[in-house]
Amino acid sequence: MENKYLILVNKENPMINEGNYEKVLCESIYASDRTLEKETYEQFLKLQDFIREQGYTIAIESGYRSSEYQQKVWDECEKLHGLEHTKRFVARPGYSEHQTGLAVDFLLYENGVFYEDQKMKNHPVLKIVADNAHKFGFLVRYPKDKESITGYGYEPWHLRYVGSCDIAKEIYDKKICLEEYLER
Ligand code: DAL
Ligand code: ZN
Repeated sequence: MENKYLILVNKENPMINEGNYEKVLCESIYASDRTLEKETYEQFLKLQDFIREQGYTIAIESGYRSSEYQQKVWDECEKLHGLEHTKRFVARPGYSEHQTGLAVDFLLYENGVFYEDQKMKNHPVLKIVADNAHKFGFLVRYPKDKESITGYGYEPWHLRYVGSCDIAKEIYDKKICLEEYLER
């Protein structure tokens, strides 16, 4: 059976068939209205439990986004950081993986404080997630050294579910990104 999770959404490939992915409401200590594709959410919960066993609390910061919401994210980022930064870290509406429901931005909760995006800096939890996310079917979608291929700067918090732990492991082991995997 074809893996419906193995799709490419990037600057050249817009989101199509949004309706293919059933969304569910997610529990998150950060926000009560986040949704994700069903299996993506189930697998994220397992990853979250695993990370908790390592002593850290991560939570869903951002999941599924509509085109309108993505536009809001773009506008807010542009206002705060300018156009060049925004192009490196935010997708145009219609071209965001978040519109699939298969992408999740996690944040860290530590000592009563939420740390999102760049605020996690070099926190050890980022390496633990990066080294283990594939066991649950996730990729760190925008690695540090792949900006010329993915089109986006390093986003250690943005995980993408690919529907198969074997495929996620292969991509992790080979240190490639999704574009490189799908190109073969
Ligand atoms: N931050 C990623 C690229 C997005 O906006 O979808
Ligand atoms: Zn993201």
